[in-house]
Amino acid sequence: MNGQQDSFFKQVFDNNRKWVAGKLAVNPAYFEQLAQGQNPEILFVGCSDSRVTAEELMGANPGEMFVHRNISNIVGSADLNALSVVEYAIGTLKVKHVVVCGHYGCGGVKAAMQAQDLGLLNPWLRQIRDVYRLHKAELTAITDGQERYDRLVELNVEEQCINVIKTAVFQRAYLRDGLPTVHGWVFDMRTGELVDLNFDFVAKLEEVRQIYDLGTSL
Ligand code: CO
Repeated sequence: MNGQQDSFFKQVFDNNRKWVAGKLAVNPAYFEQLAQGQNPEILFVGCSDSRVTAEELMGANPGEMFVHRNISNIVGSADLNALSVVEYAIGTLKVKHVVVCGHYGCGGVKAAMQAQDLGLLNPWLRQIRDVYRLHKAELTAITDGQERYDRLVELNVEEQCINVIKTAVFQRAYLRDGLPTVHGWVFDMRTGELVDLNFDFVAKLEEVRQIYDLGTSL
């Protein structure tokens, strides 16, 4: 380990000790309580991008959010990882809200808009190219490149919300309890703001179930 790495990891563990001390100063039983279990109300699906700090940008505390992050916040139909998170969050933790949060300036979305061979990443990014193909008419009508890029970020978020709605665990829970609700957001790192796309998941559920009705029994 070279000196630079050494000081990086020393800093990390120093930060951790300070964080523990800070929490205990406010509540001496903080970690005892934290260790007792989790009851988060939100499932957050976001991008792995280092600038999209899920908890920090929402002011969420430990225990409040179940989080899944991958490149370009995708809930793929054959992604055992993402689907297991959705299954567990909705089926077992019974979260009340599912948030898919993309971000402007997303490198994955940008890469999917360019003609390039990225090897193992190709099938992953193809999922974003598929979103482009679904909305080709709208996207190609946008002449400004930056605007088209921003719009694909938004459309990808909506498509991933739809992918959540397609799952049996969501359909079963929603038809039984009216929960969870599904939200599509975009983090604008140019301003720091969260933008609510006002995704109408109730209307979309009806449309989706015309094709993806799994006959889920209640
Ligand atoms: Co991203």
